[in-house]
Amino acid sequence: MTTPLKAGDRHYRAYVGPPERYDLMGLSQMGLLFTLGVRESSRILDIGCGSLRVGRLLIPFLDAGHYCAIEPNRWLVQEGILHNLGFEMYMRRRPRFSHNSDFRYDGFGGRFDFILAQSILSHTEVGLARRCLSGLRDALTDQGLFLGTFLLPNRAESCRVDPEGEAWCYPECVSFSEPRVHALFQASGLAYWKLEWFHPRQTWYAASRDSGALDAAEVALMNGYARGFCPRPQHY
Ligand SMILES: C[S@@+](CC[C@H](N)C(=O)[O-])C[C@H]1O[C@@H](n2cnc3c(N)ncnc32)[C@H](O)[C@@H]1O
Repeated sequence: MTTPLKAGDRHYRAYVGPPERYDLMGLSQMGLLFTLGVRESSRILDIGCGSLRVGRLLIPFLDAGHYCAIEPNRWLVQEGILHNLGFEMYMRRRPRFSHNSDFRYDGFGGRFDFILAQSILSHTEVGLARRCLSGLRDALTDQGLFLGTFLLPNRAESCRVDPEGEAWCYPECVSFSEPRVHALFQASGLAYWKLEWFHPRQTWYAASRDSGALDAAEVALMNGYARGFCPRPQHY
């Protein structure tokens, strides 16, 4: 009998998080992008793309060369291409990858309409989170949106909160308090919004160079309700 995979195991469906949510977390990122107006002409940067959990949906959808990603663990990208995308689609759409581990976004040429960081800032000590966010202003288009998740303390159980330092912590998580999230976005020079978009454990934030890129009415519409994963609504 084979042992079931658990989060953090060296397998392309487990290394990036609980394997039973592998499909769900790809779809929920795609749904968020749809809600925020992604088009096939959009340019997207996926920070810490792992084994192409959302990349397998985005790469066939976007124009060739418009999906760019950073992933220090090359093996994850290779497994993602092998199991999720296929070589034919890889050749057709030409996704672009960088394997840097210091949050450098300048190697792709041009700015991005969307920059994703799903479950990245839940593994960075404060100094590394600052570095992750500090390059975003220059990497986003004027109306471009950064979409990233933080693990807030009320859902973090035994994780360290606001840990000082520069380390990448994995597979364990770190948690940031809301004042710390606020300070990080302020230091990055971005306007930001806390979203209600569904995530089984973390909290989505959007950020932009332009404080008018989203407004309160739009944010209020975005809930990412996912049948079977969210509590059933009381009223329709
Ligand atoms: C929890 S996984 C999330 C993967 C992906 N965003 C997803 O939703 O499936 C974290 C990813 O960050 C990658 N990673 C580790 N260090 C990194 C760094 N310095 N910069 C960017 N990504 C990093 C890991 O290899 C892993 O693929």
